[in-house]
Amino acid sequence: MSSKFSKIGFVLAVAGSAVGLGNAWKFPTMVGQNGGIGFILLYLILTLIVGLVIFLAELSIGKLSEKDPVNAYKLLAPKHKTSWSIAGFTMIGAILIVSFYSVVIGWIVKYTLLSFSDLPNNIQDSKALFANFMSNDFTSQFFCFLFVFFLMFFIVSKGIKNGIERLNVWLMPILFILLFFMLIYSMSFDGFKAAYHFLIFPKLSLIEELGFLEAIFGKIDENSILSALGLAFFSLSLGVGTIITYSASLPDKTNFIQASLIIIFINVLIGIMMGFVVFTYIFEFNAEVSQGPGLIFVSLTTLFSNLGIVGNILALAFFVSLFFAGITSAVSMIEPFTLYLVNTFKYSRKKALFLISIVVFILGNLCILSSMNFSAQSLTFFGKNFFDLLDYISSNIIMPIGGFCAAIFVGYIINKDGVKILFSPYMNNFFFCLWYFFLRYVSPLAIIIIVINQIYPQLFQYIKFYALKIFLFFT
Ligand code: PFF
Repeated sequence: MSSKFSKIGFVLAVAGSAVGLGNAWKFPTMVGQNGGIGFILLYLILTLIVGLVIFLAELSIGKLSEKDPVNAYKLLAPKHKTSWSIAGFTMIGAILIVSFYSVVIGWIVKYTLLSFSDLPNNIQDSKALFANFMSNDFTSQFFCFLFVFFLMFFIVSKGIKNGIERLNVWLMPILFILLFFMLIYSMSFDGFKAAYHFLIFPKLSLIEELGFLEAIFGKIDENSILSALGLAFFSLSLGVGTIITYSASLPDKTNFIQASLIIIFINVLIGIMMGFVVFTYIFEFNAEVSQGPGLIFVSLTTLFSNLGIVGNILALAFFVSLFFAGITSAVSMIEPFTLYLVNTFKYSRKKALFLISIVVFILGNLCILSSMNFSAQSLTFFGKNFFDLLDYISSNIIMPIGGFCAAIFVGYIINKDGVKILFSPYMNNFFFCLWYFFLRYVSPLAIIIIVINQIYPQLFQYIKFYALKIFLFFT
């Protein structure tokens, strides 16, 4: 196995995996679509009661086995080794994610380059630029993807310590500093105040008008709850073997509870900082808050271009920080399968990476082609293009299933005493029992609910309907 992380390297590498396009892209988009503060609170609660709980379960699997996900389940399962090893194969989800995720990092590369030139200064031109890039410009997309592709495989080929740790130890602080300065700069705009009211505390006049709870949670419905849970999963890189794999290289005698809390704190903090930067400009220029993915590539670009040369610098800082956030996450998706091939078939790291890279190259190109006008039609399945399909299958199905397996495995299958010994130096008995309770009952149930609702929303409605009927019958 590759050498272990240093303590700080572990925290930064896992934080690097967690902080990514999810924070910069999905988080502000979903916050915008679900009304701001209420959604953030929901996301925080779910991050703690489901995200942190499963995160610690995956960390235990990695630390106790010091293996890749498949061999970890095999080693730790007292019986049914083969059936449990299937749970480890949810790491395929990480390969699917990296295939479309690296395409998006490619778009970021394109926009980083664009920030050196004249950015479009009205929404129409900006939309046209993005649409043309997405649906006609195969060459640009291909070369941007190729750049990201070589970079990430090169980094992973250097191993845990010299590749992944070194990347994160450099890029994570730079990302933070860039974001910090962007945040300070955005404070000079009136839009910042509006962003504050949207993200942290509603306006007093709104509270007086609607009441406190309505002002905060007014826009929350059951879909928001499910989106917040999905986001908590995606954002903490759960369910696809990444946390298991990184924890296999956790240095001994690390207070991993403290490390996990720091990682989650960094992840939430960067999401909120990103949210402030994005929404300050959105409010400053009266752009639409709930417009989806165009938020970053269309609106923000236009807004930056209206700030003259400062706008170019801001755009550059913004896209570079997004690029850093993305690349540190992308490498973490490749490591689990690499370690599996190395452990199981005794391949060299290079050979393992070569095989994985072929798959990522093919899937990545199919993702690009699936949005091109000339090929979109033949790459549409079940009403979704190939890109969206990969995103859907990996984020909405494989990740929750992977998290569910980890919860059941640690909660019911492996010996409780072994887990307790691992936790006892860093967690007192009360919190251990609380965590164990959530792991056995609350988190799996929450996951079952999201998966059912994702795959078959009507079934969810029926269950709700009959549950209510039964409840009313007995009361
Ligand atoms: N957590 C990353 C983000 O928020 O962008 C995405 C991610 C990384 C998902 C690593 C899965 C993974 F294994």
